[in-house]
Amino acid sequence: MSLQRFRAEWQELDKEFNQLQETHKLYRQKLDELTNLQTKCSNSVSKQKRRLKDLACSLRRCKLYADAEEIEAIQRINNDIKERRNVFFDMEAFLPKKNGFAYKDEYEKFKLYLTIILLLGAISCMFLLNRVIDEIFNFLLVWYYCTLTIRESVLISNGSRIKGWWVSHHYVSTFLSGVMLTWPNGLMYQMFRSQFLAFSIYQSCVQFLQYYYQSGCLYRLRALGERDHMDLTVEGFQSWMWRGLTFLLPFLFFGHFWQLYNSLTLFGLSQHERCKEWQVFVLALTFLVLFLGNFLTTLKVVHQKFQKNKDKLKNL
Ligand code: COA
Repeated sequence: MSLQRFRAEWQELDKEFNQLQETHKLYRQKLDELTNLQTKCSNSVSKQKRRLKDLACSLRRCKLYADAEEIEAIQRINNDIKERRNVFFDMEAFLPKKNGFAYKDEYEKFKLYLTIILLLGAISCMFLLNRVIDEIFNFLLVWYYCTLTIRESVLISNGSRIKGWWVSHHYVSTFLSGVMLTWPNGLMYQMFRSQFLAFSIYQSCVQFLQYYYQSGCLYRLRALGERDHMDLTVEGFQSWMWRGLTFLLPFLFFGHFWQLYNSLTLFGLSQHERCKEWQVFVLALTFLVLFLGNFLTTLKVVHQKFQKNKDKLKNL
């Protein structure tokens, strides 16, 4: 009797299993179709973006020799190109991201942990007044910036849109920390030391804010890409980004002008009658390069974002 019951149960399970196999087969088919469509769309978007970039480049060259009427026509095409780029941004929000989010996540976390260590390092140097601790701190900075450049090359090859300057910025910063490391202890070093450490503390604090902003963007972009919960829209992302950016920018610009101030202080010190070290002038130039690169690139990024937003609103 009980054996019969087991048999019946087995048959029922078997029937359900056959159905499940059919459903799973269908699921695999749909998944294949979806993956193919995603790849097809991603490839087409990349191809279109590449061709638009080439076209924009050719138009820029053409504009140099164009008359008024032609310039107007070129302007119209340029406006269309800008609009098309916004459409691609929206399309990409629904496509899987090429740059591995996990690696980017890890990169942001690495920056956060090192920022905490560097902040503690700078504060310790401030209180301990020991040259060896300063050297360890500068060595840590050299290692940190070197590592960032390597990680960023991986991110770029994975499709990240990091502007060239930020990678160069980390090369320049590696150089700056290397020169700081070789600067012998003396009157000039002591005259600049506190200012440099205070700047490092400030930079670490700004880095915290940057982490909050950038990981927030990453989190929202991921949510947009996955669309598990349909509660986040492209507009929602843009509005969050602008709020974050408006909060962050004053701190960033203050940091840039502090870099300029460092440069001017060092130029002043290089004129000092007791200044013998080559490091002073080289560091002054390096801080100036950092100021110009950071300030101009940040202005460009904000201007591009603003322009993109304006074009989008125009199209509504
Ligand atoms: N370092 C590393 N990566 C950066 C970066 C930076 N300073 N700025 C932007 N990126 C990355 C972004 O994470 C994004 O990566 P993804 O394509 O993998 O998602 C890509 O570059 C494009 O970012 P973008 O849209 O151009 O800018 P954003 O909105 O992420 O950030 C700023 C804009 C202005 C907040 C940011 O560039 C910044 O913080 N700049 C100032 C840095 C500085 O001056 N530091 C010194 C302070 S004293």
